[in-house]
Amino acid sequence: MFSLLVDKNIQLRLLEETHAEELYLLTDQNREHLRKWLSWVDKVVSVQDTRNFIKLSLKQFEANKGIQAGIWYKEMLVGVIGCETDPEDKTATIGYWLAAPFQSHGIMTKACRALIEYLFREKAMNRIEIRCAVENKRSRAIPERLGFTQEGVIRNAELLNGRYVDHVIYGLHRKDWKPKGQL
Ligand SMILES: CC(C)(COP(=O)(O)OP(=O)(O)OC[C@H]1O[C@@H](n2cnc3c(N)ncnc32)[C@H](O)[C@@H]1OP(=O)(O)O)[C@@H](O)C(=O)NCCC(=O)NCCS
Repeated sequence: MFSLLVDKNIQLRLLEETHAEELYLLTDQNREHLRKWLSWVDKVVSVQDTRNFIKLSLKQFEANKGIQAGIWYKEMLVGVIGCETDPEDKTATIGYWLAAPFQSHGIMTKACRALIEYLFREKAMNRIEIRCAVENKRSRAIPERLGFTQEGVIRNAELLNGRYVDHVIYGLHRKDWKPKGQL
């Protein structure tokens, strides 16, 4: 099982089927906020869709190919942080979202920092990547705050709400990671 205590208020826990209803409700309440940047949101229209996502995530976790974790802030589910990992190349790609009212508290930056620490220390990853739409300033600010290097831009990487958007790629290598307190 995966769980990480980020600080006294924030905890990451592996998503399980028992969380499906709560997670669907959070997604549904934040539809307009999330669909601007996340193309899967419009495809999630029932608790069953969220349950299917969780089932797939658990298979991914069992295969050592990733982790999808809920973010609990003061014991409320407020978002998701996840990663796909390649145990052979020792690379991981992180993705995340937060309910709109919980933005601007640093929750995601702290959650990301904790997951990065875990991936380098416990999973022996060598490289961590975060991809964001070029115009997604809030998302880009997270890898920038955490000392990632901007490595390039992929043009027309995604069809989002009927238009192609470019992605900016951020990378962080194990040797360049400075644990908390040294940033
Ligand atoms: C991307 C997303 C998670 C960013 O959320 P966020 O709240 O901006 O990020 P954080 O939780 O790290 O909070 C950062 C803010 O808290 C502030 N903050 C307060 N304490 C902080 C701390 N200890 N550490 C870092 N930031 C802190 C920062 O200054 C920043 O303030 P700002 O909102 O004025 O810019 C959120 O906007 C979201 O879910 N968007 C929709 C989905 C999405 O785009 N997902 C990513 C796809 S690539």
